[in-house]
Amino acid sequence: MQLLSVRKDKLSLYFVANLYIILISKQGYSNPGAIGMSEESDIEKELKAIFGPDDSVDEDRLSRFVRAEKHSVLGFLVSSVAHDSNNLITPIIGLAEAGKRSAEEIGDTENAFLYGTILSSAEKLNELMRNLLNFSKRGEFTRGTVYFNQLLNSVISLYEFQYNSKGIKLVADLNDVPEVDGYPGGLETVFTNMMQNAMHAYGGLPKERSKNVYVRSYHKEKYVFIEFEDDGCGIKETDLPRIFDAWYTTKGSKGHGIGLAVARRIVKSHWGKILVDSEYGKGAKFTIRIPDKHAVQVMREETFFGPRREPASEN
Ligand SMILES: Nc1ncnc2c1ncn2[C@@H]1O[C@H](COP(=O)(O)OP(=O)(O)OP(=O)(O)O)[C@@H](O)[C@H]1O
Ligand SMILES: [Mg+2]
Repeated sequence: MQLLSVRKDKLSLYFVANLYIILISKQGYSNPGAIGMSEESDIEKELKAIFGPDDSVDEDRLSRFVRAEKHSVLGFLVSSVAHDSNNLITPIIGLAEAGKRSAEEIGDTENAFLYGTILSSAEKLNELMRNLLNFSKRGEFTRGTVYFNQLLNSVISLYEFQYNSKGIKLVADLNDVPEVDGYPGGLETVFTNMMQNAMHAYGGLPKERSKNVYVRSYHKEKYVFIEFEDDGCGIKETDLPRIFDAWYTTKGSKGHGIGLAVARRIVKSHWGKILVDSEYGKGAKFTIRIPDKHAVQVMREETFFGPRREPASEN
């Protein structure tokens, strides 16, 4: 019950709890009044209720509590900011789009360019916020049927223009794949992140260099495979083990390092995996492997009843 009420005022509780830690480490568990907090606040009372009276506080328990609160407060802050920013960005995108369109209609190239710049920055910010929301688990995707090729085609068409303007050849080889039950919006985010990373893989490389990105889909042995292969900068061996870590980026201020962390979480929610193969300087291949309906059924059963045993063969 007490912990439930603690949740109500996470932020202030967190700061007060931190203050308690300082008090304990500097002067033992003395009365907060001793450093100028004359009246005991509700939060202090709550803390005392959780950790006991002045002389019986367990320092280790308090530290662990503060650590856990810190993580949940950060997650809470991140998701709140991301959620509210999303609402603010939407009208910016809409207005910039409208401005760009009307400037183009009257042949005002200067303003069309300015609106275009606002639009692409706002879209980038939107993408970041969407990733942050997904990362902090407050991103909400609706369950539905995943039509892989449909999603891939829509993401590809979104990027066609940018790829063209950068001289990147985009080759799609989409084959018959079965639909699965899952989160179409989530997988669209995954494919978007992959397309974006492949595009960035050519940043800073000589113009005349070959630039080919292949997107493939196929169904093999009860799995749907989606591949994104590029012949860009590739990934250093030392970076490979870290690229799925949240906030790990080699793009400096241009990257945030959450695209792959989010992608992995979403693919996992489809019982899937992301495999990566890369040679530094030659390119990278990301393979998303998602079990089809039959394979998911087997996995579900195995989770509940343990691995299936094959019937003993008769000689
Ligand atoms: N196709 C690729 N080619 C080369 N490196 C890649 C590729 N895809 C991912 N990486 C490496 O993995 C790192 C992490 O990728 P991730 O998408 O998580 O973050 P990011 O692209 O840096 O930033 P953002 O969060 O904006 O997507 C990248 O910084 C890059 O070093
Ligand atoms: Mg990325």
